[in-house]
Amino acid sequence: MLKQFRFSVVLYGLLFCHSSSILADDSALDLFKRRITPILRAPNASSCTECHLSGVDLRDYIGETQEETFASLRLAGLIDMDNPDQSKLLRFIKRTPDKPTPIGEKVRKQEYEAFRAWIHAAVKDPKLAAAKTDNDQLGPAVPLEVIRHTRQDRVMQSFVENIWSEMGRCVSCHSPELNRKKIGRNGFTKEDVDAISWVVPRDPAATLQELVDTGNIDTDDPDESQVLTKPAGLEEHGGGPKFAVGSRTDKNFRRFLNDYAAVVSDKYKQTDQLPKASDELAVLSGQHLRIIDLPERFHQKLLRADIYRYTDAGWSETRWATAENPIAGKRNMWQSMVMATAPRDSKRAAKIKPNTPVPGGRYLVKIYIDREDKTKKDRDYELGESEFYGQVEFRGEWKTGYQPPRIVHAPSRD
Ligand code: HEC
Ligand code: HEC
Repeated sequence: MLKQFRFSVVLYGLLFCHSSSILADDSALDLFKRRITPILRAPNASSCTECHLSGVDLRDYIGETQEETFASLRLAGLIDMDNPDQSKLLRFIKRTPDKPTPIGEKVRKQEYEAFRAWIHAAVKDPKLAAAKTDNDQLGPAVPLEVIRHTRQDRVMQSFVENIWSEMGRCVSCHSPELNRKKIGRNGFTKEDVDAISWVVPRDPAATLQELVDTGNIDTDDPDESQVLTKPAGLEEHGGGPKFAVGSRTDKNFRRFLNDYAAVVSDKYKQTDQLPKASDELAVLSGQHLRIIDLPERFHQKLLRADIYRYTDAGWSETRWATAENPIAGKRNMWQSMVMATAPRDSKRAAKIKPNTPVPGGRYLVKIYIDREDKTKKDRDYELGESEFYGQVEFRGEWKTGYQPPRIVHAPSRD
């Protein structure tokens, strides 16, 4: 998507190069024909798309004639007759991302100067000031909620919450800062290792772009994206399965991928099509949990451990941490990385940070086992009371790392 944007603005730039001079005596109509209509006709995206991945484009604000355009923009409160430079439309165009691309900046400047020149001329033109229109439809065709949902910053937040938060599972092999030691091992050349270095350290936006550019995100069929199918074990993966189909991680990856695909393919037209964000935040805490003495017959069954903390008011109402993995039945054990969790609107949500362990203390581990493989049949199934297996307590320090993890015994059952 962004790639498409960069490419198309080159065309856009070319289109404008010869028409950027401002002549003092240009009439509003000249300016409209020479500088505004080309924006409408241009086959490519406007500067708005640097932040609005879909839903809004500058072209939405240009009508068939200048009378219609002016009257409609005025009606919508986008033109300030007394202070043309304060016009809301100019403020929209002036918005600049934190890291603007040089080409994006050029397009923005051209759009800004074109509209500014035209608006200045237009507010002085008595014919235009008197123009009326029935068309109050100029502007985006989708509701405000859709515009908000498809904004780049909201999409990035979702990427961070749903995928970037789990990168600790991937970086040892996919970050160029950590995978160098793989070179020369198992026949991997430097080129092989470079080719799979899709993590851009400390830069989620660049990482998302890299996943798109390398074809690891499939916007036509998001569930088929390699960034999901490989670690979920649905396809051969050099790193083996990293999380189970139907697990929380699988659900989170799919939540982002399906939403992202819908955004960049302009699928959202109405508010009721928008997915809800999860009501919980989760980050890898750096801690590990192991449960031993599990029956062998549970081999490969998905186990989820929800971890509650003892507080002044008794056991916490919501979980402080969670962990999910299939059981290694032959070794009678289960082990997983732990995610610190907090309800989205809670005070604790602001405090949980990646690689920050949940503090030592007294904890209750509630164990759920998917004995009937419900999550395999329905990836959206959430393990609940009918999968509850039992609970155990532990207390004391809980160090990070898996050498050793925190070890608890499975509750004894018949
Ligand atoms: C630098 C990023 C950025 C760019 C570029 C950008 N916007 Fe926005 N836009 C935002 C943000 C952030 C909001 C929400 C916050 C707000 O409204 O102040 C928003 C909100 C909007 C809204 C919501 C309604 C409203 O009245 O606020 C519309 C419509 C809109 N932008 C149109 C545009 C158009 C048209 C362009 C291109 C000419 C554009 N934007 C360029 C970031 C951007
Ligand atoms: C132990 C090392 C290791 C870990 C950890 C690992 N992978 Fe991989 N991954 C590989 C290797 C090796 C390949 C190249 C062979 C292949 O395509 O399966 C690969 C390939 C990939 C590819 C295809 C890359 C490309 O451009 O061809 C994707 C996408 C991927 N892994 C995603 C993930 C995700 C997501 C995670 C974390 C949840 C992860 N991997 C964790 C070793 C690992």
